[in-house]
Amino acid sequence: MLLDIEPGDEIIMPSYTFVSTANAFALRGAIPVFIDIRPDTLNIDEEQIEDAITPKTKAIVVVHYAGVSCEMNTILEIANKHSIPVIEDAAQGIMANYKGTPLGSMGTFGCLSFHETKNIHCGEGGALLINDKKYIKRAEIIREKGTNRSQFFRGQVDKYRWVDIGSSYLPGELTAAFLAAQLEHAEEITQKRLDIWNKYHEIFHDLEKTEKVRRPIIPKGCEHNGHIYYLLLDKKYNRDRVLQKMKELGVNAVFHYQPLHSSPAGKKYGKHFSPLPVTDDISERIIRLPMWIGFDQHEIVHRAFSKSLEI
Ligand SMILES: Cc1ncc(COP(=O)(O)O)c(C=O)c1O
Repeated sequence: MLLDIEPGDEIIMPSYTFVSTANAFALRGAIPVFIDIRPDTLNIDEEQIEDAITPKTKAIVVVHYAGVSCEMNTILEIANKHSIPVIEDAAQGIMANYKGTPLGSMGTFGCLSFHETKNIHCGEGGALLINDKKYIKRAEIIREKGTNRSQFFRGQVDKYRWVDIGSSYLPGELTAAFLAAQLEHAEEITQKRLDIWNKYHEIFHDLEKTEKVRRPIIPKGCEHNGHIYYLLLDKKYNRDRVLQKMKELGVNAVFHYQPLHSSPAGKKYGKHFSPLPVTDDISERIIRLPMWIGFDQHEIVHRAFSKSLEI
């Protein structure tokens, strides 16, 4: 809404992401233009962005998958060259950095999620980080149902009125209180998740050597937040069977995402200029392992995983 996205505008984004990335724009009538991801980080392939730019491109949306940053220097350079705003989907990226800069603070906008699945959460919720001051005034109005109520509370106007389109994008008091407590412990929570992540990484080191799986790759300069620990199964395995076997052994491992470009709504509302082989391949091979604060069952998961590969 802040970028005045209109029907027919094109928004470049990865296909390998959660539906919210695309919905935000499809809801304004814009067309998500899906491009492929890098096989190492599973983030948008910055080398493919420029080819997808057309005169209709209104924004580039990058997703920092698993709290590992996209290649922001290259992305911002391309965006600046074409004067196109960058929006960081940092839904999974709170407390993570790219070359010392927090995720969500580099694009025109950054979006955080506080959904219950995230490191820091309040059940349902999120935050818009505005990194260009010119958008702040209107953002306040849009989030207050299109009224200038925030100005009224500050004594800047004597009554508040309907001045623009908007909706109710504010958390209630109880939700905000819950979130405040989470934020107070953000460093401790992040450290705990990193410890769990590092232990997984260590325990799966030997299995990776057998080339049965690939562990996550964290590029130099990316300081992640331990949001997700995943393994990529070698092509010779049937993931469904591996997951089923793990379930039988008491381990709830899961997969995601169903690529957006080939999903029913993605075909209806979006487009892509060329095939997306990395997205298709990764989405069929990824396995996410259990991860929550207090988790310490690494050995059990490792044993169940190794056993599941024997079938
Ligand atoms: C990459 C990504 N983008 C967007 C979202 C959506 O966030 P929310 O559920 O707060 O809309 C999520 C997770 O829920 C996500 O993982």
